Amino acid sequence: MNPLYRQLLRPLFFRLPPEWVHQRAMAALEVDAFTRPFRRWTSTPTPELEVELWGKKFPNPVGLAAGFDKNAEALPAWANLGFGYAEIGTVTPLPQPGNPAPRIFRIPEAKALINRLGFPNVGAEEVRLRLAKLRDRGAWPSIPIGINIGKMKDTPLEEAAADYLECFHRLHDFADFVVVNISSPNTPGLRQLQDKRFLESLFVPMLNERDSLGTRVPVLVKLAPDLIEAQLGEIIEVIGDLNLDGIVATNTTIDHSSVTLQETGGLSGKPLLKSSTEVLRFLHRESGGKIPLIGAGGVFTADDARAKLDAGASLVQLYTGFVYQGPLVAWEICQGLRAEPAA
Ligand code: FNR
Repeated sequence: MNPLYRQLLRPLFFRLPPEWVHQRAMAALEVDAFTRPFRRWTSTPTPELEVELWGKKFPNPVGLAAGFDKNAEALPAWANLGFGYAEIGTVTPLPQPGNPAPRIFRIPEAKALINRLGFPNVGAEEVRLRLAKLRDRGAWPSIPIGINIGKMKDTPLEEAAADYLECFHRLHDFADFVVVNISSPNTPGLRQLQDKRFLESLFVPMLNERDSLGTRVPVLVKLAPDLIEAQLGEIIEVIGDLNLDGIVATNTTIDHSSVTLQETGGLSGKPLLKSSTEVLRFLHRESGGKIPLIGAGGVFTADDARAKLDAGASLVQLYTGFVYQGPLVAWEICQGLRAEPAA
């Protein structure tokens, strides 16, 4: 399927506007009958790839990164396509339209994308209803589901904690883990929340809410690849003090020096592989391997995934690799990881 995608479908899709293709793809992925046939390949158990984290079983370490299924439209598809888990979102407290289009750009020669979507989504309550419906009709997928949450564009940074708390409150019940996104470059000021002075006030209310509910849903933070080591060092300290459950490293980068297309937004895909893996390695080393890490950025192949796992990631995830490699990218990566187990 993937060779067919790369030879026939991708050239066709790449003649069409990226967001239009994405919307059509999501509409197809929503229909279980389209992806169920892939289970012929993807349902073979791969016990050697299983990961146990936070007391949960991940059938393999390759997940779907946030932003692809923002509104929880196609959960069963991700399991059918062989992903070991999927992260939905970013979800904000209320619906919002995001930035004006065009807002996704392909850079085929670099195997990259630039996006400045700005969290368009249907809002936490609508996502909650969708997830509840899925669960009620017995269609909940067999893989762990992460929920990525964010703040509204217009919410001042000083009031951001209330947005995250609201999303957490509405959605935690459906999440195997929650990811607090403070690293998208497309919501003005958002990345400032990575500053030490904001981190505590952002997380403490959410962690208190979690404790008062008696649940132990893991809470992670998603970081940008553009932080310098001193900032990362400070963040690790705060994360350790707060006892957070993990870090997703990384989001897209604002460093566009590796590509010629000059569009505002976050750069993802191959040019991000090396720098995001370096951030991961630094976090692993500085935390003494004590904080679970999810590696994101430029994962297209088994070698890319292996590089992240070797740098200290327990899990990896991808978005841009799906666009360039095809719908069975996770399965393909897993085949490669099985063929060349960790040294
Ligand atoms: C993203 N990403 C993203 N991340 C996030 O936390 N919330 C989001 O809503 C989005 N939205 C989004 C849209 C588009 C079009 C892209 C390409 C990316 C970032 C994504 O989850 C991932 O961290 C980066 O893209 C790096 O991984 P890849 O794409 O190189 O595999």
